[in-house]
Amino acid sequence: MHVRASYLLSCLVTAVAAEYDSPSSSICDALASALPNSTFAPETTTYNASISSYPFAQSRLHPTCIVRPQAAEDVATAVRLLRKSRGTKFAVKGGGHNANAGFNNIEDGITIDMQSLNRVEHYADVARVGAGALWQNVYDVVGKRGHAVLGGRIGVVGVAGFVTGGGISHFSPERGWACDYVVNFQIVLANGSIVNANATSHPSLFAALKGGQNNFGVITRFDLKTFLHGPVWGGRIVYAPQVDTALATAFTDFKYNQSVHPETYDPYAAGWVTFSYNQTAKAFLNAAVLWYTKPEVKPGALKDLTSLGPQVMNGMATGPVGDSTRNASMAVKASPPNRRTIWATTTFRITPTIVHSIHTLWKSLILDLYKTYPAAGFVPELTFQALPPPPRNSTPPNSLGFSPTSTPEKDLVFLQVVFHHTDGNATTGLTEKLKEFVNLFDGLAEEEGVKSDWIYLNFAAGFQDPLRGYGEEVLKRLRKVSKRYDPEGFFQRQTAGFKLWKGNGTDQHWW
Ligand SMILES: Cc1cc2nc3c(=O)[nH]c(=O)nc-3n(C[C@H](O)[C@H](O)[C@H](O)COP(=O)(O)OP(=O)(O)OC[C@H]3O[C@@H](n4cnc5c(N)ncnc54)[C@H](O)[C@@H]3O)c2cc1C
Ligand SMILES: *[C@@H]1O[C@H](CO)[C@@H](O)[C@H](O)[C@H]1NC(C)=O
Ligand SMILES: *[C@@H]1O[C@H](CO)[C@@H](O)[C@H](O)[C@H]1NC(C)=O
Ligand SMILES: *[C@@H]1O[C@H](CO)[C@@H](O)[C@H](O)[C@H]1NC(C)=O
Ligand SMILES: *[C@@H]1O[C@H](CO)[C@@H](O)[C@H](O)[C@H]1NC(C)=O
Ligand SMILES: *[C@@H]1O[C@H](CO)[C@@H](O)[C@H](O)[C@H]1NC(C)=O
Ligand SMILES: *[C@@H]1O[C@H](CO)[C@@H](O)[C@H](O)[C@H]1NC(C)=O
Ligand SMILES: *[C@@H]1O[C@H](CO)[C@@H](O)[C@H](O)[C@H]1NC(C)=O
Ligand SMILES: *[C@@H]1O[C@H](CO)[C@@H](O)[C@H](O)[C@H]1NC(C)=O
Ligand SMILES: *[C@@H]1O[C@H](CO)[C@@H](O)[C@H](O)[C@H]1NC(C)=O
Repeated sequence: MHVRASYLLSCLVTAVAAEYDSPSSSICDALASALPNSTFAPETTTYNASISSYPFAQSRLHPTCIVRPQAAEDVATAVRLLRKSRGTKFAVKGGGHNANAGFNNIEDGITIDMQSLNRVEHYADVARVGAGALWQNVYDVVGKRGHAVLGGRIGVVGVAGFVTGGGISHFSPERGWACDYVVNFQIVLANGSIVNANATSHPSLFAALKGGQNNFGVITRFDLKTFLHGPVWGGRIVYAPQVDTALATAFTDFKYNQSVHPETYDPYAAGWVTFSYNQTAKAFLNAAVLWYTKPEVKPGALKDLTSLGPQVMNGMATGPVGDSTRNASMAVKASPPNRRTIWATTTFRITPTIVHSIHTLWKSLILDLYKTYPAAGFVPELTFQALPPPPRNSTPPNSLGFSPTSTPEKDLVFLQVVFHHTDGNATTGLTEKLKEFVNLFDGLAEEEGVKSDWIYLNFAAGFQDPLRGYGEEVLKRLRKVSKRYDPEGFFQRQTAGFKLWKGNGTDQHWW
């Protein structure tokens, strides 16, 4: 049996009888006795259901046990037990839609699956949302009273990861990041206490959670600001294969106009364009997913994108935002069950040429990958989208690193490089390719002098470093909050994700 040295040491120090067991299996025993109705061993129906609830095959890892807390107190109990065993690693799952293996599930450790904490209650203009809720739950509840929230544009995505990484919604061009609509986080800290972090209670923690994701605690409830909102106009448009350069041009015009003529900024125009490839048809697949949140004056700045043709399919429809997110989920649910997805992202300033140069290079690179991985079920995507405006001076800050006077919503664009595949043996090679693609695209942006250091955490690959992308000043602030609320570095050491310290020679941790 493989027993970690640090675990042996802690056994000696605490004079606990040595067990010839892994640290996680003894913690699982302790969890099962403290939370008998919420701890599940491998092979049980609930354990299996938790594993199959991950959307990507690479996330379906097998922990020693799964805890499904039914109340914030259960999370606190789990945290207190986990903290006692420094050798035990754990993962927290919100909606499970982060693509980085190990971030929301773990092999041979403990997974806290928040899915039972999914209650959504709506009072006046605040939705109280359990940290295991999916966005569709939230839209459905607040939609009954004609309200909307800044949430995911596809209903199946989880609230917890989305909000703590920033969160881009249909309404973001007008209203900003989803995390800026959080009025309160209920969170379990490393010492096991349950606190509220909001503008008046633990304000530095409140700011840190908006972009700092899982570095400070396990969030158990999000209180989100809601607002009355009528229907939106939106959906997916698929263009003919030859409409690829023209689509890049239409997206560039849309964004570049706003960058050079800020007064033309249209706060109701949202969405993205995606280039893909259909290997069966041997043709490029060009699509846009767009919304205009004020349908009575549509299409506004989306004009070039929505009128571009020929179109193969046009799903633009007017309806409540929750209908749109439910429709959008269907396409995602239709993807192959054994699909593995890896992704990475980078950000740059929009110019008349940069989207074209990246798109052209991407087209020349992907066909080679089909030759290298002919049987890997490979499907590549290249997506471009806009960023939300930062909170202005009078609103509580987030930790995403944009100054209150900056205008990333007008000047910057980010891209996602996505490699879907079905053969797990291709993942390592494709991840190297993903790195190479990002480096090449960054190189093009550098050549034009338009590369930004900012990296969107919610689409960042495990090998990227979005927290450093927020800038030195923000990183320092986040580290200070970590030292204050987690003085032993529990969330730095025992759970994966984007961490505040690398813990190597150049970037020493403090514990
Ligand atoms: C189909 C799809 C559509 C998407 N659409 C959008 C979009 O419209 N806009 C956008 O901005 N992004 C979008 N994303 C990206 C999305 O924001 C991220 O994938 C995000 O991680 C999803 O949140 P989750 O709760 O499902 O993730 P999870 O994988 O469950 O969690 C992600 C990270 O957050 C941590 N975490 C989870 N729960 C908690 C908690 N309770 N407390 C502390 N830490 C926690 C986890 O440990 C993990 O590291 C989309 C992704 C997919 C796959
Ligand atoms: C577990 O569930 C059983 C049956 O529903 C119940 O009687 C018991 O009180 C629960 N135990 C705990 C610790 O919640
Ligand atoms: C859970 O899944 C495992 C592995 O697929 C299987 O052997 C086991 O029978 C399943 N358990 C139940 C209760 O379905
Ligand atoms: C902020 O936290 C305090 C302390 O728990 C609480 O009394 C207050 O209601 C919270 N504010 C909001 C907006 O939730
Ligand atoms: C961009 O600006 C040009 C020139 O002012 C104009 O012709 C075009 O319609 C604008 N396009 C969009 C999408 O705003
Ligand atoms: C790819 O092309 C094939 C053959 O033309 C078609 O049947 C299939 O629907 C296409 N797939 C997508 C995702 O468009
Ligand atoms: C959702 O899809 C249905 C069925 O295709 C369609 O009738 C409806 O208009 C769509 N609604 C929205 C808001 O997209
Ligand atoms: C890799 O290929 C081997 C042999 O075909 C197979 O048994 C194994 O499951 C594959 N691994 C993954 C991660 O898919
Ligand atoms: C846990 O830490 C918080 C924040 O530092 C503090 O307010 C609280 O009193 C601590 N609780 C316990 C039980 O030590
Ligand atoms: C240590 O971390 C720094 C900062 O991120 C990184 O540049 C360096 O490569 C790391 N060194 C090792 C040995 O991992």
